[in-house]
Amino acid sequence: MSKIIVRKSEPLMGNISCSGSKNAALPILASTILTAGVSTLYNIPNLTDINYMLSILENLGAKCSFSKNCAKIDFTNCNSFYADIDSMSKFRGSFFLAAPLLSRMGRARISMPGGCPIGSRPIDLHLKGFSAMGAEIENGHGFVDLSCKKLQGARIYLDFPSVGATENLIMAAVLADGETVIENAAAEPEIVDLAEFLNKQGAQISGMGSDTVTIQGVSSLTPTDYTIISDRIEAGTFMSAFAITGGKGTITGINPLHLKPVTAKLAEMGAIILENESSISIDATKPLSASSIKTLPFPGFPTDMQAQFSALLCETKGTGIIVETVFENRFLHIGELNRMGANIRIDGRSSVIEGERLLTGAKVTAFDLRGGASLALAGLAAKGETEITGSEHIERGYEDLCGKLSSIGGNIFLA
Ligand code: EPZ
Repeated sequence: MSKIIVRKSEPLMGNISCSGSKNAALPILASTILTAGVSTLYNIPNLTDINYMLSILENLGAKCSFSKNCAKIDFTNCNSFYADIDSMSKFRGSFFLAAPLLSRMGRARISMPGGCPIGSRPIDLHLKGFSAMGAEIENGHGFVDLSCKKLQGARIYLDFPSVGATENLIMAAVLADGETVIENAAAEPEIVDLAEFLNKQGAQISGMGSDTVTIQGVSSLTPTDYTIISDRIEAGTFMSAFAITGGKGTITGINPLHLKPVTAKLAEMGAIILENESSISIDATKPLSASSIKTLPFPGFPTDMQAQFSALLCETKGTGIIVETVFENRFLHIGELNRMGANIRIDGRSSVIEGERLLTGAKVTAFDLRGGASLALAGLAAKGETEITGSEHIERGYEDLCGKLSSIGGNIFLA
């Protein structure tokens, strides 16, 4: 298990740039299966999950190259519908392969995506949509077998605005016969990015970013190049780092509209926020006040920022409350924060966070990606040294977190 060491840091100051979005890159990489030819993708972050995905695409017959955040994927040939179980079971992004494989090959055999510490991560909404489009579904031992000669357009209502189900069903619909309407769809910016990439190749998708997405099936897609959006959760994590250390600085290369719920919350807590076209500045040099937060699908407060704000609220004035409505088990970082001197009480899906705690460094464990990030943030503010075990979770979703935070004064490094 790799480790990160964090020591109490002076208020962070300076400019920090964002990498490309992990949660945009994964579905977009999977969607290249739909296109015979060379897709060139820019601003792809160099993360373990991205490299897993590229190795799976190669196992399916693609020729891939990845350097300087540019991925070229040549899917002239796709010669398998059955991805490498081993590397797939390592991460959740594997299930994005279901729709493009089913669409291109008429068949897809996908290992049941690993649940993960934050929840059981069911796929019932994905399967309900595939079934509505004519797919036969067989649940094997540890995998799902999907088959359908030609997917048919359908009207699908999602019981929950699932990000992954919306993305999978958009990918299933772009080459299907007829029109597909996805109602109660998720509206996250990463979904819009996937749809815009597909439309640039000739797909006919409209309504992305709203709760109703309509797709007219086309006969084929034309390969293209595309630059993916920056990572709004990485940007939010950096803002939280400035906030928790009482610093100020600018996050560059980010669309402020993707981070509205987070910047609005920080402003409500007393931070001074300035937004430009592709950057956000934050001044948190004055003490911040606690707030209450409820995680919701976009455009609500993102669940992927919940852990980071749990750490921040340990340092603000007053008592904060966070309600996690999206995942059933996303408080694993709370016990670790309490080991650092926090006083956080969990009550079902709510956590009550006492502020103005003098956190002290401790040996803690990262159990999931964003929980790990919250421990790094807490370590920047805590007296003494914090040792975070399980930092490979952090490396799944943050490109060079230690290097980036060090560049603005963070005392943090990979051990
Ligand atoms: C995506 O996961 C993100 N991952 C997650 O980011 C993010 O937290 C989540 O969306 C919500 O925004 C990627 O994009 C790779 P969901 P996904 O389907 O698609 C339930 C991170 O930290 N559900 O919107 O799996 C599910 O149980 C990661 O970067 C069903 O019930 O999220 C959960 O409670 C973590 N049935 C809720 O919906 C289904 O078929 C949200 O899940 C699918 C989902």
